[in-house]
Amino acid sequence: MIGDKKVLFSGMQATGSLTLGNYLGALQNWVNLADEYECFYSVVDLHSITVRQDPAELRTKARNLLTLYIAAGLDPKKNCLYYQSHVSGHAELAWILNCFTYMGELNRMTQFKDKSAKHADNINAGLFTYPVLMAADILLYQADVVPVGKDQLQHLELTRDIAQRFNSIYGDVFTVPEPYLGKAGAKIMSLQDPSKKMSKSDENPNASIYLTDDTDTIIRKFKRAVTDSVGVVKHSEEQPGISNLIDIYSACTGKSVEEIEKEFDGKGYGDFKLAVGETVADLLKPLNERFNELSKDKEYIDGIIKENAEKAQYYSTKTLRKVQKKVGFPVRP
Ligand code: TRP
Repeated sequence: MIGDKKVLFSGMQATGSLTLGNYLGALQNWVNLADEYECFYSVVDLHSITVRQDPAELRTKARNLLTLYIAAGLDPKKNCLYYQSHVSGHAELAWILNCFTYMGELNRMTQFKDKSAKHADNINAGLFTYPVLMAADILLYQADVVPVGKDQLQHLELTRDIAQRFNSIYGDVFTVPEPYLGKAGAKIMSLQDPSKKMSKSDENPNASIYLTDDTDTIIRKFKRAVTDSVGVVKHSEEQPGISNLIDIYSACTGKSVEEIEKEFDGKGYGDFKLAVGETVADLLKPLNERFNELSKDKEYIDGIIKENAEKAQYYSTKTLRKVQKKVGFPVRP
C-alpha cells in the first residue's frame, strides 16, 4: 500500500512499436487505474538486453514508448513512468532473489525454452534469470497487482513462489502479488493472419497497426487485411479475418456485433474495410498529434523521466534496505 492505495506494477519491453492491439487490449484501460491504484509502469531496458539490441535503436524506442504512454493518456504526475535502468534497486534485488530461486524452477519456464530455441547462438545467463529480474521489479514496489498477458503468468507465479519462500524465512517482507484481472480489453488479431495475436514484433508491417501510423498507412493496411470469400460481414468462426475487423470496429465505436452486422448488411468487404480504417485513423489521430508534440518537447519529457525515476528510487530503496538487512548485510552507518 502507498497511502490508502494498492500498488500496481507493470513492465513493458521497448522492442517493437506499440500497436492498436496494445492500445485496445491494455493501454486504453490503464488510463483510469491511477484513481484506484498507485501505478508504476517501467520500461524494462535491463530485460531487453537479454537478446542483442542495437544501442541507438534501443534508446530511441525506449523514449518513444514512454512518450506514447503519455500521449495515450497516462498522466505522468499520477503514474510513475520510468526506465528500469535508472533505478539501481532492480538489479540489486534481482541478485539477492537469484539466491532464493532454484535452477529447476527457471528450467521450467516456457519463455526461456522458446527464446533459447530462437536465439540458439546467444543463450546467456541473463536470459535464464530473466524471470528473477521480473520478480525483483514487482516485489521492489510491494505490488499488489500486476496486469500481465497470458504469456507472463508463469513468471508471475514464480514471483509469488519466491516472495512466499523469502517471507517464510524472514517474516513478512514482500507483498505477494496477484495478476490484475480488470476489465478485459479487446483481443486484437493480426491483419495478415487472424489466428495470431497482433504483435509489436511481427516481421510483416502490414500485420499490425502501429500507434504512430498515419491515416493513409492505416487505411492502406485495412484495405490489405486478410478476409475470406464468403462475402458477408458476419462474426463467425469460419470468418476469422472479418470477425477480427468487427471486433476492432466494435472496440473503437462501442457498437455491438449485431449492430455492426446490421450496419454492413448487403455491403461489400471494401466498404467495411474502409469504414474500419477510417474509424481507427480517427481514434489514433489525436494520440498521434500529441505524440509528435511531446516528442519535440525534450525538456518536458526529460523532466518527467527524472522526476519519476526519483519517485521509483524512493519507494524501491525502502524495500531494498529492508531486504538487505534481513539477509544480513551490514547496516549503512
Ligand atoms: N516480461 C514482461 C514482458 O515481456 C515485461 C516485464 C518485465 C514485466 N518486468 C515486469 C511485466 C514486471 C510485468 C511486471 O511482457
